[in-house]
Amino acid sequence: MTKCLISGAETETFLSFGKMPIANGFLEAKDYPNEHFFELKVGYCPESKMVQLTELVDEKKMFHENYAFFSSTSRRMAEHFRRFAESVRETFFASSEDPFVVEIGSNDGIMLQNFANAGIRHLGIEPSANVAQAARDKGIETISEFFDQKVAERIVAQKGQADAFLAANVMCHIPYLHSVMAGIKTLLKPKGVLVFEDPYLGDIIEKTSYDQIYDEHAFYFSVTSIEYLVSRHDLEVIDVIRQPVHGGSMRYVIGHKGARPVSENVGRQRAFEDQLGLHDPETYRKFAKNVAQSKNDLLELLNGLKRQGQRVGAYGATSKSTTVTNYCGIGPDLVEFISDTTPIKQGKFSPGTHIPVVPHEVFAKNPPSHTLLFAWNHAEEILAKEQQYRENGGKFLLYVPKVHTL
Ligand code: SAH
Ligand code: TYD
Repeated sequence: MTKCLISGAETETFLSFGKMPIANGFLEAKDYPNEHFFELKVGYCPESKMVQLTELVDEKKMFHENYAFFSSTSRRMAEHFRRFAESVRETFFASSEDPFVVEIGSNDGIMLQNFANAGIRHLGIEPSANVAQAARDKGIETISEFFDQKVAERIVAQKGQADAFLAANVMCHIPYLHSVMAGIKTLLKPKGVLVFEDPYLGDIIEKTSYDQIYDEHAFYFSVTSIEYLVSRHDLEVIDVIRQPVHGGSMRYVIGHKGARPVSENVGRQRAFEDQLGLHDPETYRKFAKNVAQSKNDLLELLNGLKRQGQRVGAYGATSKSTTVTNYCGIGPDLVEFISDTTPIKQGKFSPGTHIPVVPHEVFAKNPPSHTLLFAWNHAEEILAKEQQYRENGGKFLLYVPKVHTL
């Protein structure tokens, strides 16, 4: 039994994927002997309702100077963050003369560039030194540290409190969320807001998108579990807004308790979660069964194509795909290569099952008959880009919400 990182109560482990490598740990063949593995398993806490990993990987093994994920590889995400920044400015900066915005997990500056370009005071906190440098190169002020309460106190002393504290796809990465929330509480002005978004548990359950589960994602949030967490820091969820990105995300807006009106969306979403069964352990047992079914269906499809002598490649060396390839046992015998536009991933091999990662040009020059879309969350963008491939008879294989061919 493992204790909940939020409530301290015992969690109920409902799913284990077995041994897993670091999801973003794309590596060279010479490093295979040193590859780090851990057991990827997920539990539910009946007290905080928080779904979480029950074995964690040290953050320094995941976020460092060779971090492989550069946010700006997706144009659609750049547009998403432009609108995110715009809505923060319009909604929360109106009454502030010299607004100050802080972002954690600011990566290569995909969000903060929108504030920096408008001359707004900002600070990025990004522990992975290589992506932090990419942001600095764009003129975005960034410190390379893991955010926690101590860092927050230092920022307040040096720069004062913030009007907005932003976090996209990073809050769910941090196991010590009580320290983070205590830090945010100190850092926010009386009317300041925390706005963050992460993949939404409701979508993961509904779509059986089990590939959202990997080392970096310590938590799978719902409105109910976030309310449990923030209420312990005298903070309050004032709005929640579903987002279509990353296969279904939720944006949470949080303020000091009583400082701002609470939107009706919050209660509505809480009721939806109850209806969906997010507070019923049986839902998670059923999810585990759906995950096993998804694995069987995908393997049947890939093995069938192999028997027919078809060539299968993959698209998007995502961290999510590390869960799929390792859990299903998909190696170079079933998938020839993974095409990816990120230079740091190219020429390397996928974690655990060691499929070669190649530049997009390799895919374009000699396309396989079938392409497993690991970056299914970017399907719209990718299908538009690869229209010609499909017109020439190329097929995309997807496994969310169910295994199917496009
Ligand atoms: N916000 C970006 C990047 C998400 S990836 C986007 O949505 O595209 C998560 C990022 O969070 C990584 O760049 C990682 O280095 C960073 N991170 C991890 N732990 C952190 C912590 N404790 N404080 C600040 N950033 C952290
Ligand atoms: P993403 O799904 O955003 O993240 P995660 O690692 O969190 O699962 O990763 C998308 C990957 O797909 C990234 O490595 C870049 C790559 N990619 C392409 O190769 N081509 C594209 O057109 C797009 C949109 C992404």
